Amino acid sequence: MTKKAFIFDLDGVIVDTAKYHFLAWKKLANSIGVDFTEHQNEQLKGVSRVKSLEKILAWGNKDVTEDEFMELMAIKNDDYLGYIKKMDQSEILPDVLKILDFLGEKQQHIALGSASKNARMILEKVNILDKFEVIVDGNDVSKAKPNPEVFLTAARMLNCEPLNCIVFEDSLAGIKAANIASMVSIGIGDKETLKEADFVFKDFTEISTEFLNEIIKKNKH
Ligand code: BG6
Ligand code: MG
Repeated sequence: MTKKAFIFDLDGVIVDTAKYHFLAWKKLANSIGVDFTEHQNEQLKGVSRVKSLEKILAWGNKDVTEDEFMELMAIKNDDYLGYIKKMDQSEILPDVLKILDFLGEKQQHIALGSASKNARMILEKVNILDKFEVIVDGNDVSKAKPNPEVFLTAARMLNCEPLNCIVFEDSLAGIKAANIASMVSIGIGDKETLKEADFVFKDFTEISTEFLNEIIKKNKH
């Protein structure tokens, strides 16, 4: 049987850092007089730091210089890192460890495919860095999701055909990226938001080992 590659997004899939990104972006947006709603936040999920700030400035009709832009990005990241520093293993989302261990026992490839430049630090904080055979993060790619670069890079590093890759994602941008890459896309979160995914589960507690065994055995056509 061909070995499959399971590629995990980080924020909102492995750990609930999506809430920290939201808090940090909201504080930053409000500080420059821009409103920021949960609905807008949804559109930033999976999107790089640069692109996120560009969107916020566009929503608020704000023009800034290059220096101001860099400063705003730094302020947001410092604020975000304040939350990250306090993280520990208890912030790993329910059943993520169980699924990682199951896939490991089944000798499947396990990779990370995240837009975050803070990915390695977060994996270290929650003590699961060693569970990943390959890590592709925001430092390794230049094209943001929905561009599939991040997932295709992971597949290439694992020497695995995209058709044999399965992506876990909480963002629509990430699901689109997985679909464009011809990988199996599994949405983690809201069924309506992620309806473009091949499968959607509220969280990992809904994913059974029978389902994973099927995915391991099945070929995507
Ligand atoms: C993604 C998040 O995983 O990483 C986005 O969903 C975030 O919200 C992006 O903007 C970049 O993260 P970072 O940690 O490099 O600012
Ligand atoms: Mg995410």
